Amino acid sequence: MPRLNFTSPDGSETVVEAYSGYTVMEAAAVKEVYGIKADCGGCCACATCHIYVDPEWLKKLPPMDEYEDAMLDSTADRRENSRLACQIEITDDMDGFTAVVADNV
Ligand code: FES
Repeated sequence: MPRLNFTSPDGSETVVEAYSGYTVMEAAAVKEVYGIKADCGGCCACATCHIYVDPEWLKKLPPMDEYEDAMLDSTADRRENSRLACQIEITDDMDGFTAVVADNV
């Protein structure tokens, strides 16, 4: 079971044991990771699951599609390592995945 590490905008750190096949957003929401609002429920329509993925982990993820890219463009604080947590499916090899949660609150 992969363990995902989050640092929230308030400085709190959360480790989430997650199931493969779910999304990073779903795993974070279950544990109420601070800053993950996920207002649209994972439809790629709100950007309130915006995270900054650790650069080493970013390289290992499948590339974002055009819809995620467009939604991230709507955020004021997009960075090179920005992703939407609802668009990242968890796989068994993601143990140790690390991300900082954007200030979505
Ligand atoms: S939950 Fe809305 S875009 Fe991810």
